Amino acid sequence: MSRIFSGIKPSGDLTLGNYLGALKNFVALQDEHDCFFCIVDLHAITVAQDRLELRKRTKDIAALYLACGLDPNKATIFIQSEVPGHAQLSWMLECQTYYGELSRMTQFKDKSLKDGTAGLSSGLFTYPVLMASDILLYDTDIVPVGEDQKQHVELTRDIVDRFNNRYGDTFVKPDLFIPKVGARIMDLQDPTKKMSKSEENDKGYILLLDDLNRIKKKIMSAKTDSDNLIKFDKDNKPGISNLLSIYSVITNKSIESLEEFYVGKGYGDFKKDLAEVVVSFIQPIQDRYNEIRNSKELDDILDEGRDLANKLAFKKVKKVEHKIGLGRKR
Ligand code: TYM
Repeated sequence: MSRIFSGIKPSGDLTLGNYLGALKNFVALQDEHDCFFCIVDLHAITVAQDRLELRKRTKDIAALYLACGLDPNKATIFIQSEVPGHAQLSWMLECQTYYGELSRMTQFKDKSLKDGTAGLSSGLFTYPVLMASDILLYDTDIVPVGEDQKQHVELTRDIVDRFNNRYGDTFVKPDLFIPKVGARIMDLQDPTKKMSKSEENDKGYILLLDDLNRIKKKIMSAKTDSDNLIKFDKDNKPGISNLLSIYSVITNKSIESLEEFYVGKGYGDFKKDLAEVVVSFIQPIQDRYNEIRNSKELDDILDEGRDLANKLAFKKVKKVEHKIGLGRKR
């Protein structure tokens, strides 16, 4: 059975983009694979976080993992900072990664162009190596992520080649898994930008824990063009194309069949239906979330996940230390 690893950062509440680009696939993959899903809180502190908020969000995301359908009997669910091997391996791999490679990471480049580099943490710069460590600690075969993480997984593959060449076979080279539709859900107000929890205008994103009426309003006021034709055309009609993608992934209906169904109808009808589709999909997730968010069950699941992850991570860290020549020979 192949091994899957992926994670989500608790740097904000989960968006519909996180669900459609990543979490939905975590759930689909857990039946057939040996899965590890992490809440990557060490990644969240690359930018300043309020400590209580961070703690709260970390558990919110764990509860949402379960509410969205992850099953602890099928998948190992845990919090990154509770497994010290992630930070340990990250240092060892940072020493195998070039400054030039990290300088080419588009997420860092975009942020530094916007804000300058002087005030950015060095953790934000080296963060893709921590991500590589997350993946490589568990001999991961497949990494399900949205489009924006592709470059980081490619860097991970390069690090594997370099390390294995230098020190002998140590790491498994992981493959990317990116969904065909939903890999890049766009902002509802500016459909040329990715939907992101860090956007200032909250009308641009839908949170899994948003009030249901607010979700409907956000969809009804989503930006579309003026020709009123429900047609998928990413370049010329990014707004309606984004809404079609959301509709398609949630209902598992193809974009072509949706286009056909809405021939002769306008954006108003389409958005009303989509609002219903999204709300009836999110409501049961919220109900389940409310049941488990403060339960002992959730802590038990995270304890168990931590213990199993620690066992594997410890072994891998020891193996890498040995290959590199750290510590004493025993
Ligand atoms: P993060 O927390 O920003 O996002 C979590 C996952 O959600 C996907 N995603 C989206 N997919 C489609 N449309 C969107 N608008 C959208 N926004 C986010 C992301 O692609 C991601 O799959 N570095 C990672 C977390 C991470 C990780 C890992 C992932 C840390 N270690 C190891 C895989 C393996 C991140 O910041 O994702």
